[in-house]
Amino acid sequence: MRNLNEETITQAVLARNNDMKDARLKEVMTSLIQHLHAFARETRLTEEEWAAGIQFLTEVGQACTPTRQEFILLSDTLGLSTLVTAQNHRKPQGCTEATVFGPFYVDDAPDYALGADVGNGMAGEPCFVSGQVRGIGGEIVPGAKLEVWQADSEGFYDVQRDGGPAQGRGTLLADREGRFNFQSIVAESYPIPHDGPVGRMLDAMGRHPWRPAHLHFMVSAPGYETLVTHVFREGCEYLDSDAVFGVRSSLIADWVEHAPGRTPNGGESATPFYTLDFDFILNPVAKEKVA
Ligand code: BEZ
Ligand code: FE
Repeated sequence: MRNLNEETITQAVLARNNDMKDARLKEVMTSLIQHLHAFARETRLTEEEWAAGIQFLTEVGQACTPTRQEFILLSDTLGLSTLVTAQNHRKPQGCTEATVFGPFYVDDAPDYALGADVGNGMAGEPCFVSGQVRGIGGEIVPGAKLEVWQADSEGFYDVQRDGGPAQGRGTLLADREGRFNFQSIVAESYPIPHDGPVGRMLDAMGRHPWRPAHLHFMVSAPGYETLVTHVFREGCEYLDSDAVFGVRSSLIADWVEHAPGRTPNGGESATPFYTLDFDFILNPVAKEKVA
């Protein structure tokens, strides 16, 4: 295979895929090559632009650390994460919708008893969260596992700060009625990390890096599809321009502000506090998927 040119290069590269043993890898690589080549043709990509793209992806890789995943930010801000989530989590009407995972989940968050303060000393206005986990048929899901994580009032997740205890994240088990409740702080809008290449990309594209206020949840129970989602705060400025395209109307809830006084856990708050009540409706795993 010699003397390849603009017309023949794509077919020549695809022909090299013929011996690929893994059928799915072959399908994905074939499509990727076709789309990459079509992109270069359609945009008449110059050598300078090609080099700038290589430099950009190099910087994205170099910005990654154990606590900073710049490639996920890139996928999120280009809408790829929302597309992949949407096409892999089609659910019947009435189920709680999934949304982007984001880069700040930690899989060994501390366990908390129901009612505990998962803020764990995080600065911010108190918020008391409650709800119930049910299945799409209305059935209670007893003992569902809820993993929750959120940013502090300055917009940082605990993992973005050096050392320190887990704050604003925890794992709880719903009770026999599927009910859960915990204390935390009220979520505020915050910008995604934008001091790196993805931030520069957004800037060059004339886009802001803000996300509307939200609380992350991962809800799991045997026999149900694991739900990764957020609850967004009604009235928030960025609901219609989320930097990562994660907002769904069904996930927006009222975070009700209360004057100082008696709190849902029987305590007293000298400052205003919030309550959030939100139920999660899980999708049963399709029968053929249950081993
Ligand atoms: C987040 O909500 O934690 C998040 C999601 C996508 C990109 C950056 C942050
Ligand atoms: Fe977040």
